[in-house]
Amino acid sequence: MPVTVTPLHKHFMAEIGGVDLTRPVAPETFAEIRAAFDRHAILVFHGQPVSDTQQVEFSALFGPVFTTTRYHRPQEVQDRRKEMSPITNIDHEGRILPPDDDRRMHARANQLWHTDNSFKHVPALCSLLSAREIPGTGGNTEFADMRAAYDALPEARKQEIDRLIVEHSIFHSRAKIGFTDYSDGARRELPPVQQVLVRELPESGRKALYIAAHASHVIGWPVEKGRQLIAELMEFATQPEFVYSHRWRAGDLIVWDNRCTMHRATPYAEMTERRVLYRTTVSDEINSVERQSMLSPRKAGAAHHA
Ligand SMILES: [Fe+2]
Repeated sequence: MPVTVTPLHKHFMAEIGGVDLTRPVAPETFAEIRAAFDRHAILVFHGQPVSDTQQVEFSALFGPVFTTTRYHRPQEVQDRRKEMSPITNIDHEGRILPPDDDRRMHARANQLWHTDNSFKHVPALCSLLSAREIPGTGGNTEFADMRAAYDALPEARKQEIDRLIVEHSIFHSRAKIGFTDYSDGARRELPPVQQVLVRELPESGRKALYIAAHASHVIGWPVEKGRQLIAELMEFATQPEFVYSHRWRAGDLIVWDNRCTMHRATPYAEMTERRVLYRTTVSDEINSVERQSMLSPRKAGAAHHA
């Protein structure tokens, strides 16, 4: 069965056909998928009712799969593999979460533009999300192409930002939605990390903005000045020109490149409708600042002392 690649947007996103993810994916088939991923950044597969093991095994073709530390494991999936991270409004007994449940915090944070795991020293290469139950309306995932956004920046701005380094912290994004009450232990567990503001993608040679709700401030700049820059870039990069909104169907599986896209969930009737998706996340090889230092040591060194 030949692999088909159908672009869905002028900048990014492609639908992949001719692949059955419920069966082992042959190396030559994966090579075509990976090439499409490096070109289009986000791939949509329809009609893929994958098991956990099938999703984990497909994810592992991209690289090492993170294990989840999420405590939220619905009862019906207690025995699921530890790589599976539920994105859902359903509790451990299969009921819709009460309105004051802390676990709704995660859903609210998911409605901020972000890229997964940028708050980890070695961030995510890609995430894979499979849809199991989808509400009648809403609950889309919107994606934004950070390569196209970078390309569209004025030359002077590119020069200004090309070598900057940004501090990312999960507590920064959580504070934006009103959660600040974390123990010292929790804060020690996920200390702030540094990431480059502009990533170079080794496979395509393209550059991309690396920003997110977790991006706090620019290293070596006054905090407020850095926050202003990040806010301006976030606004620029999420203009309709760079955004695609995916309307989920049960059985969809999407893989997105966290190095060069952002995403967010859109609202739905979360008190009455069920939404159940499972995410697996693949680790990048190295911290983005360390990678940049290897690519161009003098440039990255200059940024450290900016
Ligand atoms: Fe996410």
